[in-house]
Amino acid sequence: MTPSPSVGPGNPTTLPPHTPLPLYYKNEAEHQAFLRRIFDSTAADYDRIESVLAFGTGPSYRRAALSQAGLAPGAQVLDVGIGTGLVAREALRIIGPTGRLVGVDPSVGMMEQVDLPGVELVQGVAEALPRPDASCDFVSMGYAMRHISDVAAAFGEFHRVLRPGGRLVVLEITKPNGRIATALLKAYMRAVVPLIARVVGRRSNTSELWRYYWDTIEACIPPERVLEALRAAGFTEVRRAASLGVFSEYMARKPENTIEAG
Ligand SMILES: C[S@@+](CC[C@H](N)C(=O)[O-])C[C@H]1O[C@@H](n2cnc3c(N)ncnc32)[C@H](O)[C@@H]1O
Repeated sequence: MTPSPSVGPGNPTTLPPHTPLPLYYKNEAEHQAFLRRIFDSTAADYDRIESVLAFGTGPSYRRAALSQAGLAPGAQVLDVGIGTGLVAREALRIIGPTGRLVGVDPSVGMMEQVDLPGVELVQGVAEALPRPDASCDFVSMGYAMRHISDVAAAFGEFHRVLRPGGRLVVLEITKPNGRIATALLKAYMRAVVPLIARVVGRRSNTSELWRYYWDTIEACIPPERVLEALRAAGFTEVRRAASLGVFSEYMARKPENTIEAG
């Protein structure tokens, strides 16, 4: 089955990950163009800045989250929004030589930074994955949910490409519950992070990416909506674990008894 063209922005079932951000774009076409430009042009800085700012979301965090979600040796993995490969690198360590990993991302610039032997890279988006039905055991998506245009369509696609019994993990940053914690994180992300990005980054608009980063976190749908969307897509064992109240790990499983569309 090919991805459904009826699902997407403008459709009543569409679930955008955040409210529109007119400071950066005026319509969906501009939003998509903004994302392509910002990720393509800052890709060479991404790993360096991410490692400075990781505060707990570095390699060991990603690896632990993948294991907790059920990733095991030998698995066939689809890493959506692979970017420069930070989640994929940890997934490869878990799946070992008998596993296989395919990465999907719309940004060629980000994928050009991937330096992982044996990984297949495919240009595409979460909302219309260029992969066959029931073709993988595990789907991962790290810090890309806020950049897709339709969370409902993406979760529908994750369900389609997973084999029955397959599992997923979606990593995302969540605005903290308390007002003081939010204010502190906002100050850090709005003032300190763009400054660090300007010092450490080599691309002129790297600080813009990290400012935009916070704005999408602040405007993002709450965890309950993400969990609801996973259930609506047909997943079971849907749950969220949170570290420091900020780092969310959404986990789910495609039921064993799913009847595949013919
Ligand atoms: C912040 S980076 C995360 C990269 C990596 N997963 C990590 O953990 O560091 C977000 C990635 O999502 C990608 N992206 C943007 N829109 C997307 C979409 N509609 N579907 C899939 N990936 C998308 C961007 O191109 C970018 O590479």
